[in-house]
Amino acid sequence: MGSMISISDDKVFALTNAEFSYVFRVLDEGLLQHVYYGAPIAHAEELASHFRVDRGATSHFQGVPNLNLNDLPQEYPTFGTSDYRRPALHGVNADGNSVFTLKYVRHTVTIDKPDLDGLPSARGGESETLIIYLADPLHGLEVELFYTIYQNYGVLARSSVVRNSGKAPVDLTHIMSSTIDLPPDDYDVLHLHGTWSREFNAERTKLPMGRFEIDSARSTSSAAHNPFLAVMERGATETSGNVFASTLIYSGNFSLSVETGEFEDVRVLAGINPFNFAWHLAPNEAFYTPEALHVFTPYGLRGMSRIWHRFIQNKVSPERFRNIARPTYLNTWEAAYFDIDEAKVLTLADKAKDVGVQMLVLDDGWFEGRRDDTSSLGDWTADMARFPSGIPALAARVRAKGLKFGLWIEPEMVSPNSQLFEDHPDWALQVPERKPSLGRNQLTLDFTRKEVVDNIYDQIEALLACGDIDYVKWDMNRNMTEAGSTALPKGRQLEVPHRYMLGLYGLLRRLMEAYPDVLFETCASGGNRFDLGMLSFMPQGWISDMSDPIGRLAIINGASYLYPLDVMTAYIGPSPSHQNGRISSIKTRYNAGALCAAKGISLNSLDIDTDVDLLRELMRLAANTSGDFIGGEFTRLISDDTQICWQYITRDRRTIYVAYFHILSAPNLPFRRANLADLDPVAAYELQEDGTIYHGDTLMQHGLALPYVTCGQPQAGVRYMDRGDFASHLFVLRRKR
Ligand code: DGJ
Repeated sequence: MGSMISISDDKVFALTNAEFSYVFRVLDEGLLQHVYYGAPIAHAEELASHFRVDRGATSHFQGVPNLNLNDLPQEYPTFGTSDYRRPALHGVNADGNSVFTLKYVRHTVTIDKPDLDGLPSARGGESETLIIYLADPLHGLEVELFYTIYQNYGVLARSSVVRNSGKAPVDLTHIMSSTIDLPPDDYDVLHLHGTWSREFNAERTKLPMGRFEIDSARSTSSAAHNPFLAVMERGATETSGNVFASTLIYSGNFSLSVETGEFEDVRVLAGINPFNFAWHLAPNEAFYTPEALHVFTPYGLRGMSRIWHRFIQNKVSPERFRNIARPTYLNTWEAAYFDIDEAKVLTLADKAKDVGVQMLVLDDGWFEGRRDDTSSLGDWTADMARFPSGIPALAARVRAKGLKFGLWIEPEMVSPNSQLFEDHPDWALQVPERKPSLGRNQLTLDFTRKEVVDNIYDQIEALLACGDIDYVKWDMNRNMTEAGSTALPKGRQLEVPHRYMLGLYGLLRRLMEAYPDVLFETCASGGNRFDLGMLSFMPQGWISDMSDPIGRLAIINGASYLYPLDVMTAYIGPSPSHQNGRISSIKTRYNAGALCAAKGISLNSLDIDTDVDLLRELMRLAANTSGDFIGGEFTRLISDDTQICWQYITRDRRTIYVAYFHILSAPNLPFRRANLADLDPVAAYELQEDGTIYHGDTLMQHGLALPYVTCGQPQAGVRYMDRGDFASHLFVLRRKR
């Protein structure tokens, strides 16, 4: 492999692979000037810079004409020396001011991807990392910037480390993972916002002058704003146009912001949310930022999603479950809620077995005293009145039926009404002299403390040690408030949210190492913490509590801008929907999640009996095809108000699934086609339902005829949807040769 990083004698650094080039250089004054980010270019040395124009501005470098920091694209800017935009690094130094100047010291290149000291990060391999060392000698502050470029991905991974090599502490407030300064242009910004059961709404809006920011101060990445943002050319579409997208491998308070400065240059900052954050960096201490990932593509939003999906599948998702089919499951939550006991679990296990489901998941309500959401979190032993055999024996009995067994836990939480809280009231996050706010009647445990994390580890270990638990659903059902720790000094209270994340990641790492074969699913009231931090430990996530299929379609569609469907779970829930009251067919409830890797049902015995034949058929299909939906290629073909059409090409590129949804029916609709994408133009594909052969070029150029929605009389030779609203159809095409 030829080096992807070239460094000229005059210190122009160019990172180039087949997807992009990223170029910056060291100015004579020692600052890092950003030069270029975009489609690959071979001659970085030819890149002209136009920034030395006299705008009559404030000049930090006395005697150096026309060097206006406010106009200079930079790699890791600071504040206080004439760049008035938001910086990458900011804080208060020993002199009590906030002026820092970081200058180039040296650099190294390595093929190892450095570890981020307890934070999750993308795996290396076929990659190179450039490390730039910067320093502000006046305050003994040193910064390392990591840039990782991969041979086969259009992803640039960035993070930074700040070290205090001085004699006095420095109090930092901004320690961003990365800055990307883009040239002036007409841009739009795309981001994903929402709330409980309505996560992942995509909003595309004109990038305004000034600052646009999405962030979280809830100590979860949050359903309100997923940590994802794309800056795109105004004219960019699903299939064309330059897109610059960013995310973070982090699950706590984040910020992704875009600032359009006075000269219309655009600064993207990614990292821990500077709001309500401070870090006291004592001499000899270092602070590691979470990893930011950046994608550039000239191929629009589809091109962007392709890059994210492949990268997440291969470099972020845990390797142990890579390309491994997921078991189908019956989850007890919407089947029984808290009204659950051993007998019901065993009955549901029989029903699950009967319809061909492979795993029984016991959701909330199984532990000591837990009859509703007012108690017991923190006491992870079975409720002896309702689960007299205990979890290990129940798990063994479920397994004896030929099923796997899964268990729900919410380990980061404590109910005030619990033994754990009675024994350790100081183990909950809190601030002095204030009554903590309750969320779902519960408090958050103080994961900044080792003894708290150790206690929870031991409790989980006591459950998993039986060896009969195949799967764990890891839930987290409140945002943090009064996020203080009784174990930290006053001056370090604003460090709590980030220290909490380090505690959580440490716990997850220990558990994954001790129980590598247990399949973990992340959940936080659905999608309140669906991010690459959690997904780097857990191969799948419960993306939303919305189990109505039409509600979920929009959620999956929005989430798919960043996340592959491999990491999303889906089940057939009850109808009418418990979330929005909609009535829908079992078929559409299945089809909405058909392209997700992990599928199941959450229905009570009566509902299962009512549709037993169809459920048998669908669960057999889900089990037989689960492996198809891992590691393949997902494409949004159509997404508008009335229709959604998605395509999935399996990893071996031999099977194509096309899921089509027609939301509201109407008379006399047009006949529509979907132009499939990225097939082999000369290959023949057989449509499974009627044996018709189509070639790839036909399917891509002329398109696949979509079923017709009508309330009139069906006519021979026309493929129809189900009648009425919320109709869906799943096509399967198989490559012949
Ligand atoms: C919230 C989750 O999103 C649900 O799926 C369920 O597990 C409940 N918590 C249980 O309390």
